[in-house]
Amino acid sequence: MQLFDSTEGIRSAVLENKKQGKTIGLVPTMGALHEGHLSLVRAARTCDVVIVSIFVNPRQFTNERDLKEYPRKLDGDLAILKGKCDLVFAPGINDIYGNSPVSSLDFGDLGSRLEGEFRPGHFNGVGLIVAKLFNIILPDYAYFGLKDLQQYLLIKQLVKDLSFPIKIIGCTTIREESGLAMSSRNLKLSEKGIAVASKIFEGLNIVKEGFDSGESIDNCRKRAAKYYERINGLEIEYLEFASEDLTILNDLNGAKEISVCIAAYVEGVRLIDNLYLRQ
Ligand code: PAJ
Repeated sequence: MQLFDSTEGIRSAVLENKKQGKTIGLVPTMGALHEGHLSLVRAARTCDVVIVSIFVNPRQFTNERDLKEYPRKLDGDLAILKGKCDLVFAPGINDIYGNSPVSSLDFGDLGSRLEGEFRPGHFNGVGLIVAKLFNIILPDYAYFGLKDLQQYLLIKQLVKDLSFPIKIIGCTTIREESGLAMSSRNLKLSEKGIAVASKIFEGLNIVKEGFDSGESIDNCRKRAAKYYERINGLEIEYLEFASEDLTILNDLNGAKEISVCIAAYVEGVRLIDNLYLRQ
């Protein structure tokens, strides 16, 4: 496994591999790696060369404290990745933003609902860094988790809109035994907080039970509210039902796919999750 901290370094290593006709798979991350990230790395193993990028991207944080407190564990991450990927790209801030880019990416409605509504500017920053990583590495495949469903859909849109010759692969959410979606942010929770946060997924399953038994979206929403209001220490920011293009649904409206998406705070930590009700 080789580590690169500069754009030039990773570019020439990728070029060398491309000359040999090898396929390149990229897994973009912000580090503090866990099994969720590793599931993407495993999925990428179908490519000849697997690259993991590690960069805590300041442009996608909408809160200074959140950025400052985001877990950074490069040495531990490298130890975890050893033997699992071929190249690691962990650039410094100047390498990526030294030229102070002024461009940003606007994803229209898709970027302004759900996460976009509560974290304005977040997806502009995600779009910018992912477009940069794609241009630096030019992978054949890039892997994203469906835990961040809106991000995954947005990246697919980005690839289409900017004609990147890259195939985007979505990977299922990896969970703790309790059902809690794995997340680098879980590291900030106490044991008690973890127990509370695990109820998020339990609630989504209760919604699914109602949906599967034919309940309307309105009733499913009431079911969720009733379940979550009894949980001390859990503060729901949004719970929405969305179609395949993340249009918010208030009734079934002929949507092909339906997911329930949630953002909630536990001990001041913001967590998101989602569950497909119909796929
Ligand atoms: P990060 O939160 O580190 O996540 C990196 C990738 O891992 C994302 O595609 C995310 O959806 C996926 N992932 C996280 N938790 C997962 C889980 N429990 N199961 C499956 N996949 C999971 O998402 C980002 O970083 C950044 O926004 C990034 C795309 C790197 C741009 O900065």
